[in-house]
Amino acid sequence: MNQAWGLNRIFPLLAAHQDQVHPDQAAGLRERPRRRCRTITVAGGKGGVGKSTVTVNLGMALSMAGREVMLLDADMGMANLDVLLGLTPSRHIGHLLDGSCGLEDLLLPGPHGLKVIPAGSGARRLAQLGNGEHAAVIRAFDELVHPPEYLLVDTAAGVSDNVALFAAAADDVILVVCDEPASMTDAYALIKVLSRDFGVRRYHVLANMVRHAGEARQLYTKLARVSDRFLDVTLDFVGMVPHDEQLRQAIRRQSAVVDTAPGSRSAQGFKQLAGAVDTWGEPERPSHDRIAFFGGQAALATGW
Ligand SMILES: Nc1ncnc2c1ncn2[C@@H]1O[C@H](COP(=O)(O)OP(=O)(O)OP(=O)(O)O)[C@@H](O)[C@H]1O
Ligand SMILES: [Mg+2]
Repeated sequence: MNQAWGLNRIFPLLAAHQDQVHPDQAAGLRERPRRRCRTITVAGGKGGVGKSTVTVNLGMALSMAGREVMLLDADMGMANLDVLLGLTPSRHIGHLLDGSCGLEDLLLPGPHGLKVIPAGSGARRLAQLGNGEHAAVIRAFDELVHPPEYLLVDTAAGVSDNVALFAAAADDVILVVCDEPASMTDAYALIKVLSRDFGVRRYHVLANMVRHAGEARQLYTKLARVSDRFLDVTLDFVGMVPHDEQLRQAIRRQSAVVDTAPGSRSAQGFKQLAGAVDTWGEPERPSHDRIAFFGGQAALATGW
């Protein structure tokens, strides 16, 4: 079965019925051969542009369409994903790093089969992890017995090594921007650092909290124009999510808007984003190799 066709077919159905995927449709997706794990890092530079919201809702939209999805909260020490989904973790990345549990033990089950790896909250040590520790987290994925089809990584604000290492380890980077001057300048600063120091050349731009499609396109064009001119990178426009009060209500209820208000404007944007992501061609290097490769490089550099 053509997977992209499957998703595109299902999303209008989801919107129309505002409940669950038709069982036959979901079964159709589950029966098709499982794809290799694809890792997507969600970044943005500026704080509060919607990185965590995008990670949760993109993951949930893919999951509701029958994909196997795992979310990694890489905003270490400031965990958000478990809170956004109303989950209560008993362990976090810190326990993985001190050897008291394995990656599989951290997997928190969320709605619709989504799995979340929590970052831990309020532990200063977690916010100060070194490159070797980040590499150890990334390398732990090589040992997953049953890798998901999608691994989405939510990152912190800023241009720290933490963000850069997870962006460099992924197959794709989604860059979330919104209509604020600081979002544009911070996104540009992030692209500059990632491309110059970490060799990340390709970015998928998502315009969040926009009023209309024209505004979203304008944001993308502005960023692409300046990046094309000064940096050796490729940007494409991957979609838009409108500013939506229903999304805020969903957040207050600790749920994903695509799940609890699938007919809302923002949910439509997330479903279209998921449909677009699912049509991406195979990455240049399979993510599994890429993560292993990355882990190896980081280990050499840091002595881990
Ligand atoms: N499309 C939207 N419509 C309305 N509100 C939104 C939308 N997207 C995000 N928000 C709001 O913006 C706030 C910040 O979102 P979120 O926590 O996802 O940002 P972030 O980039 O992950 O922030 P941080 O850098 O602190 O991790 C949230 O309170 C959320 O309610
Ligand atoms: Mg966040």
